Amino acid sequence: MESSMKSLSSFHDRYLKSFKLFLERSTEHQCMKKFFDNDLPDIINSIGKRGVSCLNVLGIGSGSGEMDLAILEKIHSKYPGVSIHNEVVEPNAGLISKYKELVKEKGQGLNASFTWNQMYTTDYEKQNKERKESKKFDFIHMIQLLYFVENAHDTIKYFHSILERNGKLLIIQTANDSGWSSLWTKFGSRFPTSISLDVQNVLAEMKMKYQIYEHSSDFDITECFIEGNENGDCLLDFLTDSADFRKTAPEDLKSEVLQHLHQPACSREENKKILFRNNLKFIVIDY
Ligand SMILES: C[S@@+](CC[C@H](N)C(=O)[O-])C[C@H]1O[C@@H](n2cnc3c(N)ncnc32)[C@H](O)[C@@H]1O
Repeated sequence: MESSMKSLSSFHDRYLKSFKLFLERSTEHQCMKKFFDNDLPDIINSIGKRGVSCLNVLGIGSGSGEMDLAILEKIHSKYPGVSIHNEVVEPNAGLISKYKELVKEKGQGLNASFTWNQMYTTDYEKQNKERKESKKFDFIHMIQLLYFVENAHDTIKYFHSILERNGKLLIIQTANDSGWSSLWTKFGSRFPTSISLDVQNVLAEMKMKYQIYEHSSDFDITECFIEGNENGDCLLDFLTDSADFRKTAPEDLKSEVLQHLHQPACSREENKKILFRNNLKFIVIDY
């Protein structure tokens, strides 16, 4: 890693600004909703097999909860007479507040109650172990989270261990054929954060049974190529997980990254826009 570069994830406000712009410029959440509409209803068929009156759901790294709420809506429409208890693990207080507002606005009628855990996954695990509580969940999801945890293997192992019989663990990440994968395989060691995108290897090591679904998504990165464009700078920060990439990255890295972002492995040109391959994979792990 180049010494003056710093990880974007450690600058909360800047990270949130970049993430918001990314969501505005990409079809990330639309792509997830396509999966929720097309595939999720069948996947959650089995979780209600226990014939219970309440289903327990756990969302990890929920952010401001838009996708979590969309999942709850699907569970509710599949099991309209069943109540839902939803636990949230999210370290960012500002995002939890936004999630709570969203629940007030759109969560009525879901027959759902919430427990808010403002903490990291490791603290949640510690808290459960200290309480000697073995609460189990019918559905657990980690949406674009695993890049940020200290140890993906241990995180998956622990959360899989608290699945209820017939439960499912859903992991959503960028697909192997995405621009993210190409960019980070080529330059990851020169960026400030070490992010591992390779969850399937971890699952294979753990001999876990899973199914994979994929849906395509685009991310408009045209502004990244306009020198002095503030939004473009934020998007570059998001792509490289570097705070102020354009100012802090060495010249050679900057020009190599910009050149690579233009290559077919990362993007295509359409109507004068440069569209980054933001394809997603949806990994569903059985109990
Ligand atoms: C890329 S955002 C995804 C947010 C949301 N799931 C979505 O897809 O819109 C990653 C989220 O994970 C949270 N996060 C980061 N590290 C975490 C950890 N170790 N444990 C739990 N959450 C974490 C961040 O605060 C952030 O809200």
